[in-house]
This record gives sequence, structure tokens and C-alpha cells, in this order.
Amino acid sequence: MAKNVLEIGYREIILSKVICDSEVLDEAGLTLEVYPSREEACRAVADELVAEIRDRRELVLGLATGSTPLPFYRELVRRRQEEGLSFQGVVGFNLDEYEGLSPEHPESYYSFMQKHFYGQVDARAGHLPPGIYQNAAQACAEYETKIREAGGIDWQLLGIGGNGHIAFNEPGSARDSRTRRIELDERTRLDAARTFGGLAHVPRAALTMGVGTVLEARRIVLMAWGEGKSEILHRALLERETADLPASFLQSHGNVRIVTDMGAGGWALS
Ligand code: GLP
Repeated sequence: MAKNVLEIGYREIILSKVICDSEVLDEAGLTLEVYPSREEACRAVADELVAEIRDRRELVLGLATGSTPLPFYRELVRRRQEEGLSFQGVVGFNLDEYEGLSPEHPESYYSFMQKHFYGQVDARAGHLPPGIYQNAAQACAEYETKIREAGGIDWQLLGIGGNGHIAFNEPGSARDSRTRRIELDERTRLDAARTFGGLAHVPRAALTMGVGTVLEARRIVLMAWGEGKSEILHRALLERETADLPASFLQSHGNVRIVTDMGAGGWALS
């Protein structure tokens, strides 16, 4: 079946979740689940992660920032506080960091992770690429080494940018790209302008894990919410893989779970 033909039916309806049935997605080892709300979706993803945490002495997590993972972090923190879930076996690696922002900067991803996750759970360690560095290539090589020395990423959380980026792998990023410095797209900077209080304050570059680095994770879970992500997600999953839309490279990973609300994934149900 041609990749751009959308032929999706219902495979299963379990309570409020719909798992979409599609040859294209099956071949890609990819599941797509559409939930009535992002909170329900996040509870389902938290169930998977908690099972992983309980099964292993150590779990290397790849973590994301942005508005997408917020309800997920809220759910994990709730499980820590109300159910005593321990993250002591968890070592985290974030996808990216803005160039020029110190850890104390309120918009740094370091601050974000402290506020929404690490400051509220008992994880063993949490790493991010540096925002301030002397030599970008060296900082990136060191980050890759740290990931390798930790044994590689077991479980990677992802969002998708409005232009189809994953981490800060902007359109044009190669499938085998590694952690590196990247100039941010105008679209990405505009999307970030609100949280930075204006476009002029948004950094022009970042350090990001590469597409190749991300694809080495053994399991990937991508979340997308709202109608604003609907079209780009549809294209990423069903058009041919291309560096113009880096999220499309997930099609050939083999172990990817996509979780959406009705806004981002409703197209799969029609
Ligand atoms: C940033 C992050 C990405 C994230 C994307 C989407 O660019 N570097 O990892 O997926 O934003 O942002 P949001 O979740 O706010 O839509």
C-alpha cells in the first residue's frame, strides 16, 4: 500500500482508548492510540513507564521539554507523592538545551526539568546538554559519551514541533545526525516567543541530540496534543521518510508508540 494512502480502521476499543489499525503503521512497528483527553493518555503512558521502572534496577530515560510532556510529568509526580513510586533507579538524559542560557535562567530547559520533574521526584541523576560552553563540538561529544556510558537510552519521550522537528532537529536534519549545535528555525523561535516574552529574547541556537541519537533509544513514546499538531503528525506518520520532516524517521525505528488526544489524532478515527 502506498505510504500516502490513509487506510486506518479500529483494531480495538478498550474503555476510552482507540488503537488504530493500519498496515502502514504495523509494518513500521508503530502503534497509534487516540484518547479523549491528554490526561487519560498520560495516565496510560505512565502505566507503561512505571512497569519499566519496577522491572529494572536501572532505567535510562530520554526526556523532553515543552508544553506537551507537562501533564505527563504531573502524573509521574502525583504517583511519587500519592503512591510512593520511587525513581531511584532512573537516570535521565534530556534532548536539548538553548544556547546561551545558564541553568538558572527561568526559560532554560534545566530550570524546566527542575521545576516539573527532578525537583519533585527522587531520580538518581538527570543530565542535559549545557547551555553555556566553550566548544560546541566538544560539549556534544561529551554528551554522547555520557549516554553511551550509561548504557544507551532505554525509553525515550518525545514531542513534535510545529514544523515536524523532534528534539531540536529542524527540517534538513539527517537520519544519522548526532548531538550537535543547531540554528533554530524561525517557526520554532516564533512558537517559543510567548514563553520568552517576545521573539527578541528567544535564543537563536541550541544543542540537540541528533536524529540518530534519538533513534538509538530502544523504545520511543511520542505524545501530541491539540489540533495544531494534527496535520504535521499525520504527515510524519504517513508520508515517506524525509529530512524535511525529521519526525518521519520514526517510521523506521521499529518500536514506537504514538499517543494523542482527539485534537491531534482524531483524523485516524474517521
Ligand atoms: C521544543 C522542544 C521539543 C518539543 C517541541 C514541541 O522545540 N525542543 O522537544 O517537542 O518544542 O513543543 P510543545 O510541546 O510546546 O508543543
